[in-house]
Amino acid sequence: MRRALKILGLVLAAVVVLVGGFLLYVQIDGIPRYPVEKVAFRADPTPERIARGKKLASALCANCHLDPTTRQLTGKLMIDAPAEFGVIYSPNITRHPTKGIGSWTDAELAYLIRTGVKRDGRYTPPYMAKLPHISDEDLASIIAFMRSDDPMVEASDRDPPGVAQPSFLTKLLCHTVFKKLPYPERPIVAPPVTDRVAHGRYLVFALECYGCHSADFKTMNVAEPEKSAGYLGGGNPMLDLHRHTVPTTNITPDQETGIGRWSERDLVTALRTGFRPDRTLIRYPMGLFPDLTDEEGAAIHAYLRTVPPLRHAVPRPPPPSPSAAAKTDGKALYERYGCVSCHGDDGIGIADLRQAAEHYPTRETLKLWIQDAQSIRPGTRMPSWRNVIREEDYDPLVDHVLKLGKTRS
Ligand code: HEC
Ligand code: HEC
Ligand code: HEC
Repeated sequence: MRRALKILGLVLAAVVVLVGGFLLYVQIDGIPRYPVEKVAFRADPTPERIARGKKLASALCANCHLDPTTRQLTGKLMIDAPAEFGVIYSPNITRHPTKGIGSWTDAELAYLIRTGVKRDGRYTPPYMAKLPHISDEDLASIIAFMRSDDPMVEASDRDPPGVAQPSFLTKLLCHTVFKKLPYPERPIVAPPVTDRVAHGRYLVFALECYGCHSADFKTMNVAEPEKSAGYLGGGNPMLDLHRHTVPTTNITPDQETGIGRWSERDLVTALRTGFRPDRTLIRYPMGLFPDLTDEEGAAIHAYLRTVPPLRHAVPRPPPPSPSAAAKTDGKALYERYGCVSCHGDDGIGIADLRQAAEHYPTRETLKLWIQDAQSIRPGTRMPSWRNVIREEDYDPLVDHVLKLGKTRS
């Protein structure tokens, strides 16, 4: 008996030392490095690729890398990254040779985007997108766009406003659950759009719907998305630019708690315009996909119908019903309609409102932009608010937008 206890004690002590040693190692080692394989990848630019690449990069890269004040991919503080991951800055990925990605080869970019490993071997923590399922053609399009003369990627020598400080949790996750993804051995070809379910599955993987819409980033399975905990069942606690928690919704076909009752039209309209069938705003970080084609929308709908339904009720935002008292209070309206979820309290967020008075010199043109941005600038990710905002609310709302501009130093 005494002997057994002694052995148990020794085993426990050994475990404590091993675990302690591992944690210390994680803290000192930081984000792990991997040997970098040489892969072959070429992204020869064509006008079609650059156009598709812009659409993909706007949906997949801009939300993290676009600085609203420069309107370029010059990097920023990611205020919506969960605090548990530490302080995160996205880097400058414009064409600049030293401050941006101008000196990276196509293959180095492809390797990073697919495996999560940078050209110096450093792994990129969970908040940098990894797209192991994206087709060669779509990846080549993104890279061709990054090299194009589009203003969004024009060489800029701006440094991001700070240096990232990943938390211990981030380091630990990168030593345990999040690992380098294997670089595919064969070229990846997207299923044809006519094969609706297969193409829809491709888009749900490539556009990363599954990462946000499964239970949690910590339990998502990037290599095999369908094995993510609570696949597409929602509840992942995300932050908007007001730093309010916005849980992702259940997009499985469950009739009560998912989107089983949504028609194809409902879904396509929601994805393109940013509003649900009941005209409530689908808040940030869910973005609009204004250039989603009918075929792509139909494919996503067809695939989502085939996913195992999960019964999981996630709270939805209450529809904005400004009280009589708030009617003339522009700030309250800005919050209730959800402008704050994308533009933040200070009017910066994903798009800087502080120069609105210069861009829209009269109250009437500013109102028209808010009502119908999509017809003024097709492809913009600003929702069109006609038939959502009540007529009498425009005046105080416009006042509030103009007031945000006055705070600019
Ligand atoms: C969820 C936020 C997020 C998304 C989405 C995202 N990135 Fe990043 N990206 C980051 C962060 C944060 C880093 C810094 C990682 C590090 O160095 O540890 C980064 C690093 C990079 C780098 C390395 C740059 C360097 O100089 O080290 C490149 C290149 C890059 N991203 C390109 C892209 C492209 C292309 C896309 C779209 C396909 C994309 N990123 C999508 C957040 C993001
Ligand atoms: C960056 C994270 C993110 C990505 C990527 C994302 N979503 Fe969302 N989505 C959200 C969040 C958060 C909400 C909840 C917003 C709210 O409650 O206002 C949401 C809401 C929705 C809704 C509204 C559902 C309802 O019942 O109200 C649908 C539909 C939807 N997303 C579909 C998709 C599809 C399809 C994709 C891929 C093309 C996708 N989402 C990609 C974060 C994301
Ligand atoms: C889903 C995110 C989202 C929401 C919600 C949103 N916006 Fe925007 N807004 C944008 C984006 C993105 C742009 C930049 C559009 C562009 O440049 O193409 C923008 C641009 C603007 C601009 C023009 C700024 C300029 O100087 O060019 C104004 C004004 C504006 N938004 C007001 C509002 C108001 C008022 C609300 C609420 C009723 C609102 N927005 C809600 C995303 C959003």
